[in-house]
Amino acid sequence: MIDVIILAAGKGTRMKSQLPKVLQQLAGVPLIEHVVGTALQLENANIHVVLGHQATQVEEVLAPYPVDCLYQEVQLGTGDAVMTALGSLQKYGISLILYGDVPLITLPTLRQLINLVDENSMALLTAELEDANGYGRIVRDKNESIVAIVEQKDATDSQLAIHEINTGIMAVRNEDLERWLPQLHNNNAQGEYYLTDIIAMAVAEGKQVNACEPQALFEILGVNDRLQQAQLERVCQEQIAQQMMLEGVRLADPTRIDIRGRVDFGNDVSIDVNCVFEGHVQLGDGVIIESHCVIRNAVIGDGCHIKAFTHIEQSDLGEDCEVGPYARLRPGTYLATGVRIGNFVETKNAAIGYHSKVNHLSYIGDAELGEEVNVGAGTITCNYDGANKHKTVIGDSAFIGSNTALVAPVEIGKGATVGAGSTITKSVPEESLAVTRAKQIHREPWQRPKKEKK
Ligand code: UD1
Ligand code: CA
Repeated sequence: MIDVIILAAGKGTRMKSQLPKVLQQLAGVPLIEHVVGTALQLENANIHVVLGHQATQVEEVLAPYPVDCLYQEVQLGTGDAVMTALGSLQKYGISLILYGDVPLITLPTLRQLINLVDENSMALLTAELEDANGYGRIVRDKNESIVAIVEQKDATDSQLAIHEINTGIMAVRNEDLERWLPQLHNNNAQGEYYLTDIIAMAVAEGKQVNACEPQALFEILGVNDRLQQAQLERVCQEQIAQQMMLEGVRLADPTRIDIRGRVDFGNDVSIDVNCVFEGHVQLGDGVIIESHCVIRNAVIGDGCHIKAFTHIEQSDLGEDCEVGPYARLRPGTYLATGVRIGNFVETKNAAIGYHSKVNHLSYIGDAELGEEVNVGAGTITCNYDGANKHKTVIGDSAFIGSNTALVAPVEIGKGATVGAGSTITKSVPEESLAVTRAKQIHREPWQRPKKEKK
């Protein structure tokens, strides 16, 4: 059993945001969920999260996870933060200390660190940095053994020249934490209880301080401002894109795709540049997504072809649909097999039946279309009377002429034809023709007005 203590009480002033720092997102997922997600992959982990600033908001996000929330009322330092967890730890065991704002730590690194702890030792994750500015420095003796960590603000000039830094991530036996933490003092440059002071305590007791490095530098990087957030967002996106390609997705350019959430996909999916996926998106076998599409919480069936600049949200597309370019499927759109939605068509809360077509410049809202319906260019369902929404129902094989206004509630019978330019306010019987356009007249000959001379 491992106790994982995730420190997340800090304010995150540099983000300049209303949102608590650990709820800022990477790849559409709050920072803290990245850390919790990784910790949960450890076998038998007992996860404790230390909250402080905007604790309730963070706690809400953590509610679905099997974690134990602890509160550090005042942020007196990292040592004090870990101390809040003391009462919740198992008597004999190891604690792993992680940070809510260091989101990309990996499981292999954590396992490696845990394996370096035994009765006579603790373990630190360290790194060699070109620019060590801001970090605690690892102080070693003549034999290269670690003897202490000094914080930047407490360091001497020669200590500042050290490039080996403390990532903050460490693994310590609980019995040792119980003994050492109460001995911390805040007699230092920042007036804080430094967790890092336990290193010197371990050494004083004759314990070994083992160190290891992460496989990749990004694992230890924190998100303190928007620049670091953007930098780690790129790392995340690169990892997701690589994984997708390894699983068979063809990406036209892995540096030009953004996944903010989760995408599931079948075989032979192809995605062109600059597409954004949000929430949970499912792509069936052979789906083709052209460039510049935004797809949020949607199911796209096998063989669908989504053309460039299409937006799809909370919609469910059957097989072999063709959508776009420049289409907008809004929440509640259901397309059956083989539906065709063309350019500048907006749908909302609309179920469109097998092989029906809405090819150009239309609005289909609060509607139910049967099979093989053909909706002409510029057709509008007038679903809103200014107060309430009403439904339009169009039967199988109906043909709606161009530039028709269907004033809901209204029903077009199976096989009915509506003449172009009609404004339909009454239901149309099956197999009939409805036309409401004014009769065409001719005046011959016709003299156009002429400009008067001034
Ligand atoms: C800490 C380490 C430093 C290390 C650096 C790596 C200490 C004393 N120093 O410094 O050696 O190089 O991390 O980034 O540990 N937090 C709480 N409660 C508190 C204080 C902090 O929850 O009372 C949380 C913060 O939210 C933050 C993390 O702990 O996520 C680190 O705290 P911070 O004050 O930023 O430590 P550093 O000064 O960066
Ligand atoms: Ca920090």
